[in-house]
Order: sequence, then structure tokens, then C-alpha cells
Amino acid sequence: EKGNYRHFMQKEIFEQPTVVAQTLGSYLRQADNSVALPQFDFDLSSIKRVTIVACGTSYYAAMVAKYWFEQFARVPVDLDVASEFRYREPVLEEGGLALFISQSGETADTLAALRHCKANGQTIGVVVNVPTSSMAREADLLLPTHAGPEIGVASTKAFTCQLAVLAALAAHMAVKRGLMSRKEEQEVVRHLLEAPACLNAALDHDEDIAAMAHLIAPARDVLYLGRGPDYPLAMEGALKLKEISYIHAEGYASGEMKHGPIALIDEHVPVIVLAPSGPLFEKTVSNMEEVRARGGQIVLISDAKGLEAAGEGCMATIEMPQVHPLIAPLVYAIPVQLLAYHTACVKGTDVDQPRNLAKSVTVE
Ligand code: F6R
Repeated sequence: EKGNYRHFMQKEIFEQPTVVAQTLGSYLRQADNSVALPQFDFDLSSIKRVTIVACGTSYYAAMVAKYWFEQFARVPVDLDVASEFRYREPVLEEGGLALFISQSGETADTLAALRHCKANGQTIGVVVNVPTSSMAREADLLLPTHAGPEIGVASTKAFTCQLAVLAALAAHMAVKRGLMSRKEEQEVVRHLLEAPACLNAALDHDEDIAAMAHLIAPARDVLYLGRGPDYPLAMEGALKLKEISYIHAEGYASGEMKHGPIALIDEHVPVIVLAPSGPLFEKTVSNMEEVRARGGQIVLISDAKGLEAAGEGCMATIEMPQVHPLIAPLVYAIPVQLLAYHTACVKGTDVDQPRNLAKSVTVE
């Protein structure tokens, strides 16, 4: 049931504060601010390598997780889309953890990659939204996202719940590997628990974003830029926009722009920059200057500090709450989802059933 919403996608976007809180609730213990994963007999302290495999939006969640696993748990991560991974003869050493991320738990390429890893001695962890799915049944470690059924073909709430699970897993791994003190763990948990309120604050900008969609709808091409964990968010923003509004969009690492895509920039190509204030912000500002020098039109998505420093001269800005870097990818998912959603509404496309797409891709 859509309730008061026009589309399932819109309803699912707005459910995120609630479902992310639910998901975090099952991985974090609020009594003592600790991370609590389901019991399983695999020693996370001895892992040599984590292999993460997924498709589409779930792959972008995996990309964010790579930054976290490396940063917190100092574990090497191999990451690939399932359709490449399964055919490229990956080197899998005994004792590795292979993680599969999937909303449906049925995506054919991801399931085949899982079976390949199982046959090659990997411990299988799955992050799935459908607890009765094939991937859930074949896992050694089942990490459910408690997003509830996702009806809109474009994935939204499953993505942010995947991020919530993966952040908890990264912290847990860091604790097990002796790299995160009890005090640091408590701090990380406290920041994660701030996510639902920050998601709500981001959703408060719905109307501004709806207005801005009129600037994006006439475009033929749109570029999304981000750095660090916000780079996968740029890719996710581009995927959402092309899926439901049929506007061609690309997500790039901000620093890669000058290596090619900058040739596309002119006043007709909106450039959407995802840049929370922080150590990498200045770098992104210089990438914005490169865009501006070529007549490019920028939409800057940042917090008050970032907008104050670099908001001037932008075609539009969207203000996000000031958040801890760990939860920024969850919070910045909201404006890119809403921008795609409202742009599709302006164009009058079928938001919940975009052409050529299926909710569950069970063919190769
Ligand atoms: C994008 C989208 C797809 C899926 C992909 C993987 O909005 O929905 O890109 O993310 O088909 O599906 P799951 O997560 O079910 O394996």
C-alpha cells in the first residue's frame, strides 16, 4: 500500500529513517554502545582478505564498504561486479571471507559468484533484504537488512540499510582485529545511532529538491562527482537518474574528471557535486573551479560549512546536516534519490516500473 504517497519509490525513500533505525537496532546494542553481530563460527580476527561481490546499487554499497573495511579494520578488500567476478578467474586463498550484497538475494550473477566462492574455500557472508532468498539459505553468515519489502524497481531503502549493516560489520571487524578500542567502538556506535535523525533532516529538503528537479529535467546529460565514500554515491546518483528519468548520467571520482569527462562540460550539462565538508573538501572545490571555468552549471550538495565556503556561483545548492563522515554516505543518499525521483516526476515517466527493468534479475 502506498498510503499518502504517489509512488512506492517515494514511500520507500521516506521510510528510510525508520528502517535504518530498525536495521541498526539489530546490529548495535544501545545499553553499552557496542556492535553485536549474529553468532557464527568464523574468526574475523584472522581474515586475510575480504572479497565483496554485488550488482547495481548493491555494488555501490559494496564500494562504500571497501573504504570502511580498509580504514577501520585494515583488511585488504577485493571488489567486483558479479558478472565480471565470476568469469575472471579470481584468486581466492583459503581462509578468506566472501561477502555478497543483494536486496533480493536472487540476482543470478551474484548467486553464481557465491557458489564459486563456496567451492573455493571461502566463508560466505551475505547481506540480503529477503531472509528466505537463495543467498540467505546458502550463507555461513547471514546479515539481514531489515528494510521491509521493497516494491519500487529502483532500490532506495535497501541501499541505506545495506550501508548500515556494512558499517556495523566494519566496526565489528576492527574490534576483533584489535584496531578499535572499547571507547572508539562506543563513539562509532553513537555516530551510527545519529543516522536516522540525520536522514530525517535530509528529507526535510524534499520541496527544495522538487523545485530543483525542473532545472535537471531538460538536461540530456548529467555528471555526478564525489570523493572517497561519496564517490560511490555519485555513481548511485547517476544510476538512479538514468533508471527512472532516462537522462544519461555518469558518476565520477572528482579527481578523475580532468582525465576525460571534463571535455563534456558546457552550460547544458549540470554537474552535481556531493561534498560534505572535511579534509577532502578543498580538493573538490578546485574540481568545481575547473567546471566553472568551462561554463559548467554546478549543483552543490554539502553541509552549512561547505556551502558557506563554496556555495557561491552554483546553479543550486542543497544543504545537508553536518554529519560524522561515517554516516555521510547514508545521508547523502537521500538528496540523490529525491533528485532522481522528482526529475522523473517532472518528465512524467513510470517511476515504479521503469522501462526495460525488472526488480529481480534472475537471468545472466
Ligand atoms: C538499481 C537497482 C539495481 C539492483 C541490482 C541488484 O536501482 O535496483 O541496480 O541494485 O539489480 O539487485 P539485488 O540487490 O537484488 O541483487
